[in-house]
Amino acid sequence: MHVVRAFVLSVLLVILHAPSPYAATDTLRHGHALAGSDKLVSGNGKFALGFLQLQPGSSYYLGIWFDKVPVLTPVWAANRDNPVSANSTWRELVISDDGNMVFQAQGATVWSTRANTTTNDTVAVLLGNGNLVLRSASNSSLTFWESFDYPTDTQLPGVKVGWNKVTGLNRRLVSRKNAVDLSSGIYSSTLGRDGVARMLWNSSSVYWSSTWNGRFFSAVPEMSAGSPLANFTFVNNDQEVYFTYNIFDESTIVRTTLHVSGQNQVRVWTGQDWMTGNNQPAHQCDVYAVCGPFAVCEPNGDTLCSCMKGFSVRSPSDWEVEDRTGGCVRDTPLLSCGAGDGNSGTVQVAGKLLRGDVLSVVDADLRGDVNVEEVERVCRIACWCIQDREFDRPTMVEVVQFLEGICEPEIPPMPRLLHAIAGGGSNQTAGV
Ligand SMILES: *[C@@H]1O[C@H](CO)[C@@H](O)[C@H](O)[C@H]1NC(C)=O
Ligand SMILES: *[C@@H]1O[C@H](CO)[C@@H](O)[C@H](O)[C@H]1NC(C)=O
Ligand SMILES: *[C@@H]1O[C@H](CO)[C@@H](O)[C@H](O)[C@H]1NC(C)=O
Ligand SMILES: *[C@@H]1O[C@H](CO)[C@@H](O)[C@H](O)[C@H]1NC(C)=O
Ligand SMILES: *[C@@H]1O[C@H](CO)[C@@H](O)[C@H](O)[C@H]1NC(C)=O
Ligand SMILES: *[C@@H]1O[C@H](CO)[C@@H](O)[C@H](O)[C@H]1NC(C)=O
Ligand SMILES: *[C@@H]1O[C@H](CO)[C@@H](O)[C@H](O)[C@H]1NC(C)=O
Repeated sequence: MHVVRAFVLSVLLVILHAPSPYAATDTLRHGHALAGSDKLVSGNGKFALGFLQLQPGSSYYLGIWFDKVPVLTPVWAANRDNPVSANSTWRELVISDDGNMVFQAQGATVWSTRANTTTNDTVAVLLGNGNLVLRSASNSSLTFWESFDYPTDTQLPGVKVGWNKVTGLNRRLVSRKNAVDLSSGIYSSTLGRDGVARMLWNSSSVYWSSTWNGRFFSAVPEMSAGSPLANFTFVNNDQEVYFTYNIFDESTIVRTTLHVSGQNQVRVWTGQDWMTGNNQPAHQCDVYAVCGPFAVCEPNGDTLCSCMKGFSVRSPSDWEVEDRTGGCVRDTPLLSCGAGDGNSGTVQVAGKLLRGDVLSVVDADLRGDVNVEEVERVCRIACWCIQDREFDRPTMVEVVQFLEGICEPEIPPMPRLLHAIAGGGSNQTAGV
């Protein structure tokens, strides 16, 4: 029995350790497919390309990672916004008949290079700098497509962040959605056509910006001393504007990643761990909306983000994976709203509405045409606004939602202020 079992085991081990057809190659050719756990490995052994999953049960991406770093660290993903379900049983990467590289799963095309190939005689090669290129098989300088033109959240050495002014190609970094999901998140890092580097929340609110002073970005004085690992290059001419950096030693493992938290992080692999090089903005709490609505950012606290008093985390499962955009919600909702949400709206808008409504009530009163329901609504919201405890008071957004009729207010507790004016009576509710 033991002998048989040992034999079966050794056969299994041999099968498990059988090299996959692509274990030792950096090139994918027409007529071959990269499938299952196959991978391309760059000639220098530094990078691998294959189907990756950030954790068991989560989606599959066609991605590139550092092959020698034991902690899976993706540096690029092809299909970040079209992930493949974890239960898909069939995935492959091929060179199609028109020469493009195509990722298919469950019989459908998930992603393709969609390049204007002038020949169908192409190969895909994973270079030693982590760039995946689609090029002519017979002429290696005829490149049709390269992953360095479409960075995800990471700028590897050699990636140019910025614009090709001729083709209109904009290479920028976009953070991932959360710690276990590579899809596009809320932060981006760009180099504008005006030559200004910026970090933005939701492509609209700038929370960090800097210009190049000829030697370094003014906002990063640490760069002025140079780096023992790399040099920096900034180019702005008729054709293009970009920032890039190049390492002196090919074996150095370094990356610049726009983290889920909105910080641009330079990290160097020491052989055991990712060592912090530089963070921009330097202070995590300087990242716009990093904790979401109704939350407080405390750089020196046990936890970076915590909810304001009287509020709780909207989605604990999202917070666990570092996505805090949902922020916090009031423990006891003041208003029962349909779709009301968010942190938008301004005091000014609410002020105008409030004045408008009060005036219309007064007008109506003067005309002897009182809308009792309307008056009651306004009084209820007024009572909420002067609640004794600050966190019981509605936000301006909630006030607007109430005035617009999107939300219905509960009957508020009697505020002390009003109780004093009313001189007794019920102190349970405002009584309107
Ligand atoms: C695969 O996952 C999708 C969604 O994640 C689900 O709708 C589908 O039922 C699953 N299929 C199988 C065979 O489990
Ligand atoms: C390339 O295209 C030619 C002509 O369209 C065709 O005959 C040939 O089979 C194609 N080769 C490959 C590898 O698909
Ligand atoms: C391919 O060519 C078409 C037509 O010339 C052009 O519109 C398109 O932008 C090109 N695509 C790429 C990826 O260059
Ligand atoms: C290879 O491609 C480059 C770029 O298009 C071109 O300049 C060169 O002439 C080609 N070489 C050959 C041998 O075809
Ligand atoms: C981001 O901006 C878009 C409009 O550009 C808006 O629809 C969306 O709600 C914004 N996202 C958040 C989280 O505010
Ligand atoms: C930067 O370093 C790279 C790698 O050593 C080198 O090829 C390049 O010429 C350098 N660039 C500048 C502007 O010094
Ligand atoms: C006010 O509330 C307190 C405690 O809830 C209660 O003991 C008291 O009788 C109330 N007073 C009036 C006038 O209703």
